[in-house]
Amino acid sequence: SMLRTLARRTSTAGRRRGFASESAPDRKVAILGAAGGIGQPLSLLMKLNPLVSRLALYDIAGTPGVAADVSHINTRSEILGYAGEEQLGKALEGADVVIIPAGVPRKPGMTRDDLFNINAGIVKSLCTAIAKYCPHALVNVISNPVNSTVPIASEVFKKAGTYDEKRLFGVTTLDVVRAKTFYAGKAKVNVADVIVPVVGGHAGVTILPLFSQATPSANLSSEEIEALTKRTQDGGTEVVEAKAGKGSATLSMAYAGAIFADACLKGLNGVPDVVECSFVQSTVTDLPFFASKVRLGKNGVEEVLGLGALSDYEKEGLEALKPELKSSIEKGIKFAHA
Ligand code: NAD
Ligand code: LMR
Repeated sequence: SMLRTLARRTSTAGRRRGFASESAPDRKVAILGAAGGIGQPLSLLMKLNPLVSRLALYDIAGTPGVAADVSHINTRSEILGYAGEEQLGKALEGADVVIIPAGVPRKPGMTRDDLFNINAGIVKSLCTAIAKYCPHALVNVISNPVNSTVPIASEVFKKAGTYDEKRLFGVTTLDVVRAKTFYAGKAKVNVADVIVPVVGGHAGVTILPLFSQATPSANLSSEEIEALTKRTQDGGTEVVEAKAGKGSATLSMAYAGAIFADACLKGLNGVPDVVECSFVQSTVTDLPFFASKVRLGKNGVEEVLGLGALSDYEKEGLEALKPELKSSIEKGIKFAHA
């Protein structure tokens, strides 16, 4: 009867969340920047994920409090808090997935590229430590400008001799989350059913939602598609302006970051057909990095999927985004070499 109880518990948990937590392998996740606006709710959401067995929360300061708080939640994972650079190695050791929301956020009037001067150095130093302490981890880069910080990470790993293009991801899930929400509102369909790929990069016009491929399909006018596209591209700015100096998206970003990290964990655990959009090394276009649908597996990227059929409006958007995305990528690479 004990077995039956256990079986019942397993299947209830499995049905409720889509996980079979009792059989999930040990997985360590590290969050770098865990005391920040994104870091704190992301720590909460990762503490709720039954695929995580150890959750390391690292920041330059403030993590002991966040770790003590989150650690009282009665879910599977053990919480480990680390503060200050001398503890970064311990935070990273044995990590399967490292999520990086460290860095300064925008204020009204700024572009994501205006964050480059501060955040490029932060990402460079954190990736140098990743190469040393957990060179095989899947790395989820949230810190902006993503179009440049991901190329910086790749160059740091190349220099350290640890680069594996299958293990480096720019997190663009928030663009997909927004595109789904805005599309469902306009198309009057159930948001839970909506699928919309978002490709390109993660800044302004480099964000290219492919509403022509959205499902459930709807008969939206070209004006409506254009408005949805602009709103998705300016979604970050919409939040920055509403927060009026108190930073950028944190709660919706924590949600998006938790979705993407969960997809990485499922892939590592051998769950089939895990597909998310992400900014990765790519041959889908002539640019060395590009966001598109990616199939995740036991080694990270299993397959970078192509763009599929584009509308004329999307084809124009694709050509229009290339110069900016190219120069942001080159800026990151140049910084890493300097
Ligand atoms: P925040 O200022 O609230 O938090 C950032 C945290 O990073 C702070 O706790 C800070 O102490 C920490 N930090 C700074 N340097 C560090 C270092 N060297 N090592 C470890 N931690 C360090 O900012 P936020 O609102 O959480 O945003 C963080 C970053 O995420 C920003 O760059 C922002 O632009 C970006 N962002 C990206 C997306 C996306 O879609 N990819 C969405 C929202 C925000
Ligand atoms: C977002 O898309 O919300 C983030 O990139 C933060 C920002 O600066 O807009």
